[in-house]
Amino acid sequence: MKPLKLHLKLRNVIFVFGTLGLLCTTVIFLRGNGEKQEAGLSLRQQLTVKYGINCTKIYEMEPVEVGKSLVIRKQKIYKGLTDAAIANATIDCEWFVSSQGYNDIQVTESEREFPLAYSLVVHQDAALVERLLRAVYVPHNIYCIHYDRKSSTDFMLAMNGLARCIPNVFIASKLERVQYAGISRLRADLNCLSDLLDSEVKWKYVINLCGQDFPLRTNAELVSDLKGLKGRNMVESKWPGGKKIRWSVHHLLKNNDSEYYDFPVSTPEEKPPPPHNIEMFVGSAYFTLSREFVYFVHWSSLAKDFLAWSEDTFSPDEHFWATLVRVPGVPGEVPRSDPEISELISKTHLVKWSYLENDLYPECTGVSVRSVCIYGAAELRWLLNYGHWFANKVDPTVDPVLIECLEEKLEEKRRRLAVN
Ligand SMILES: *[C@@H]1O[C@H](CO)[C@@H](O)[C@H](O)[C@H]1NC(C)=O
Ligand SMILES: *[C@@H]1O[C@H](CO)[C@@H](O)[C@H](O)[C@H]1NC(C)=O
Ligand SMILES: *[C@@H]1O[C@H](CO)[C@@H](O)[C@H](O)[C@H]1NC(C)=O
Repeated sequence: MKPLKLHLKLRNVIFVFGTLGLLCTTVIFLRGNGEKQEAGLSLRQQLTVKYGINCTKIYEMEPVEVGKSLVIRKQKIYKGLTDAAIANATIDCEWFVSSQGYNDIQVTESEREFPLAYSLVVHQDAALVERLLRAVYVPHNIYCIHYDRKSSTDFMLAMNGLARCIPNVFIASKLERVQYAGISRLRADLNCLSDLLDSEVKWKYVINLCGQDFPLRTNAELVSDLKGLKGRNMVESKWPGGKKIRWSVHHLLKNNDSEYYDFPVSTPEEKPPPPHNIEMFVGSAYFTLSREFVYFVHWSSLAKDFLAWSEDTFSPDEHFWATLVRVPGVPGEVPRSDPEISELISKTHLVKWSYLENDLYPECTGVSVRSVCIYGAAELRWLLNYGHWFANKVDPTVDPVLIECLEEKLEEKRRRLAVN
């Protein structure tokens, strides 16, 4: 019996090696296509594959699986690609587009008849921006990238590369040097909005994102939610309370040597009230706006005067949109007498503030930086089930597994929806 068994085993071994041999030739054949293939293979790191992490089990909060993600974090296994590597990868557009799957996206008729626009205001980490773009990309939408004039040359090259290679992605025609909490942050979005209005794509809504956002909804799900808005906008809009100080006094953006401060500096000099009897509201820099509303912002003298008045205020992006949606008669107006629209009601961005943890939501499982949570893998389920559209913030250097699992879950949803 023994020799026969051995013989069988040997046959199995030969069979297995034979198959492996075949696989290897395929791999070698693929790699044989040149250096660029190699760069491409490394563009997508799959730590979940390499370390056998099952994202469904992460979603189900299985302790062993979540534990594996903690080990990866602790050992700092994730190594991000440099901006230069992304710039390099976009030298050969044809290869880049197909290797990253930009040319292989299925959409429904319902999505195609409801195009969206995006304004991406970014300044660093080209690899992460590319992942974000890939996660929100469908070829019939339109994407404006605004990068900071202070960004590194490699980052700018990478962004220009993305815009050159991917259809319907472009760089804002006017770029700002973005100052924290300064008017330039708002102008970056406004520059994109102005370009987007000129686009041939007749988008219905525009969404702004930053480089550490990540979608929680597929394009199809987003379109379905946005159709439900029936022309209304989705922005936070609350009463100002203590934030009045942000616009009751004049702020300086630069010192006497014309150098920008790190953020606008308040002065004792009082500011006049806003023009046109505008009543002030506060919210966030994030918005989902209808095309009609953006037209209004672009063309009305009220909006122009309000922007000029906001020039020397602190963080005007956090009161500009919140206030304009409440101006009587604007498209998709929120009546001033309506209740506050808090960040929990406004579904654009899901942000976890450290001082509201355990009160409004469970504790941050990543790390909190300046009171904002950079999400960890154990938050996957909470993020996907909350009902908001975008997570803020994600960072693979904090937790690479979370982003991979978000990508995987979104892809699963896309496939499921495509079948139905
Ligand atoms: C991942 O886990 C789920 C649930 O435990 C299971 O159904 C699925 O088959 C697993 N997937 C893989 C690739 O092992
Ligand atoms: C850019 O690509 C070339 C070959 O295509 C390669 O030799 C080089 O190392 C790459 N540079 C970076 C920074 O990835
Ligand atoms: C800047 O210059 C003005 C007068 O030109 C002066 O009154 C002011 O104190 C200076 N401010 C600073 C911060 O040096």
